[in-house]
Amino acid sequence: MSHGEAYTAIKGSIPESEKKRQLYQQASDALNAMLAGETDRVLMMSTIVAVLHQSMPHYFWTGFYRVVGDALLVGPYQGTPACLRIAHGRGVCGSAWAEARTMLVKDVHAFPGHIACDARSASEIVVPWRDASGEVVAVFDVDSDQTAAFDLIDHESLEEIAQRFPL
Ligand code: SME
Repeated sequence: MSHGEAYTAIKGSIPESEKKRQLYQQASDALNAMLAGETDRVLMMSTIVAVLHQSMPHYFWTGFYRVVGDALLVGPYQGTPACLRIAHGRGVCGSAWAEARTMLVKDVHAFPGHIACDARSASEIVVPWRDASGEVVAVFDVDSDQTAAFDLIDHESLEEIAQRFPL
């Protein structure tokens, strides 16, 4: 089976808890097999985005914003064209970067300062991503077109994956 054939998530539904845990475990195992011995940052970010986006039915937009100087710059990502630059402390991504912590937003319309790149985004989770020395070098941003798509399972699983695959 080729890499691509393993990913058949049908977009839309939010998986129930046990299924969600299982999907994250499978995605993490797939990344472990694919990324063993790899160090190139674009290769790693692209593969992390592709595997998670294709594995998770509740992901609508999936991507990294990289720390470049005093802003976050988009990419790599999968989904509709997104905001290119986000200032430090702005929106959910800029806040996750500034505070160096995961931000889980169940209803983006209730988050003051949320940056709407696509009107269909309804909830999101943003996880800081570090390099091997522990410095936050990017944030990983996932949007869903459904309200409250993300919970503690997404939070814990994505933080585990971030720790397992530093950039
Ligand atoms: N939702 C983000 C902006 C990025 S897009 O959703 C792709 C935010 O408020 O930080």
